[in-house]
Amino acid sequence: MGRLGPVTDELLAWGLPRMREFPWRATRDPWHVLISEVMLQQTNVARVRPRFERFVALAPTPSACSEAALADLLVEWQGMGYPRRCRHIQDAARVIVERHGGEVPRDLDALMALPGIGPYTARAILAFAFGDDAAVVDTNVARVISRIEGRALKPRETQVVADELLPKGFAREWNQVVMDFGATVCNARAPQCSSCPIARLCSWRGEGVDPARTTAFTSRPQGRFEGSDRQARGRMMKRLTEGSVEATRVAEVMGVDDVDRAERLVASLITDGLVERVGRSYRLSERRR
Ligand code: ADE
Repeated sequence: MGRLGPVTDELLAWGLPRMREFPWRATRDPWHVLISEVMLQQTNVARVRPRFERFVALAPTPSACSEAALADLLVEWQGMGYPRRCRHIQDAARVIVERHGGEVPRDLDALMALPGIGPYTARAILAFAFGDDAAVVDTNVARVISRIEGRALKPRETQVVADELLPKGFAREWNQVVMDFGATVCNARAPQCSSCPIARLCSWRGEGVDPARTTAFTSRPQGRFEGSDRQARGRMMKRLTEGSVEATRVAEVMGVDDVDRAERLVASLITDGLVERVGRSYRLSERRR
C-alpha cells in the first residue's frame, strides 16, 4: 500500500454507507452521464436534479440529440445558466454520430476531443459510465487533495495525487465518495475538521491558511451577477424561450440602458450559435440538421 493508502481506505469506509443518491448516479448510459456531467460543470446538484431527466427524455441518444432543434434543447436548458453548454452537448452528439457510430467513445483522448468536454468531464464519463480507472478532479476533489497534502498544488500535481488515491476497480464508488466528502465534510467555507474521518491523516486540519485557496481547479469567487453581461444575456435567453423578440426591444428585454451594449450582447449570443436573426426579430437558433 502506498503512502496514501490509508486515506483511500478510510474515506471509502466513511463514504460508502452514506453515498448521496442522484438520478445521474442511477444510470450507466454513457450519453446520459455525459449530459449530467456537462450540466454539473457549472450548475449545482440541487438545480440539476429536477432538470436532468427531462433533458434526457428530450435527447435520449446522441442520434436523437443531433436531430433535435437546438431551440427545443435550449428551452429545456433554461434556468441552468451558461447555455453554450447546451450547444456543446448537441455538437458533441453530432461528432459522436459522425465519427463514433453513435456510441460515446470509451477513450480519454477521444472524449476530450468532443466539444465542451475537458479532462474532468472525460474522466467522469470513463469512471461513472464505464467503471474505468479514472480519477476525476473537480473543484471539490482539488480542495480535498490540497488540504490532505497541506500545500497548494499545480494542475498536474493534483491529477497525479488523485491517480495515486484511486482504488483500482472502484473508480465509480471512489469518485462519488470524494465528491460527497468535499461537498459535506471538507467543504469550501466551513470545513468540519472536528468530525472529519481522516483528520489524523490530513496535513492541514483547518489550521492557518487554507492551501486549497491557491490550488489549481479550486473555484475563484465569481464576479457579481447583478448588472453583469451574463445577467443581461440570461434575460434575453429566458425571454426568447417564450417566442421571438423584435430587434428594437432588445435593450429593454435585457434591462440595459445602453443600446450599443445590448447590440453587442445579442451579437455575442449569435456568435455563440444560440440566437438567430430572422427579418426584424431574434429567435432561439433552430439549427436543425
Ligand atoms: N455524481 C456523479 N457526478 C457528480 C458530480 N459531478 N457532482 C456530484 N455528484 C456526482
